[in-house]
Amino acid sequence: MAVTPPESRVWWKEPVAKIELTWVIIAFLWGLVMFFMMIYWHVVGEQNISNEAYRIDAETFTKKTQAMVDQHTVGQRKARNSDREVPVVAPPPGSDVYLIGRLWEWWPILQLQKGKSYRLHVASVDWQHGLSLQPVNINLQVHPGYEMVTTITPRDKGEFTVVCNEYCGIGHHLMLGKILVVD
Ligand code: CUA
Repeated sequence: MAVTPPESRVWWKEPVAKIELTWVIIAFLWGLVMFFMMIYWHVVGEQNISNEAYRIDAETFTKKTQAMVDQHTVGQRKARNSDREVPVVAPPPGSDVYLIGRLWEWWPILQLQKGKSYRLHVASVDWQHGLSLQPVNINLQVHPGYEMVTTITPRDKGEFTVVCNEYCGIGHHLMLGKILVVD
């Protein structure tokens, strides 16, 4: 039994007040606008990029990343959040490049060539992170157990910052990485 039972038992058949109906229609239409905006922005915008996702375990992904680092490291840089050195890796254009998200860093630093395409693989080896590439504002969810794969072709030279935008613990705000784009 309801705490305050409706006065009329056929409450669901009462006419809807005009103002309420107006709001229902506005909310419905706005929902449609936002739904089609997602599709529109995938085609016209530059943030909702296409990606593929494949199952992969942390160990395999770490091995693949390490193999790329061993082959193509061209330098070292101090990490943004500690005194550790982070390898700067320049894999050949057209190749598969790997980026690990983990507590609390993006590893390694990738150095890519402007105008060349790469297959970027991103995965978490612990728990959920979010890849946010700034200032271009491209976002990808990074889940443990899956690698997100997308084809990227950097258009501009410079240093791009990878920010974690999914709260992942005490060091979340320090989880910063870099992607360098050179000629
Ligand atoms: Cu990783 Cu927040």
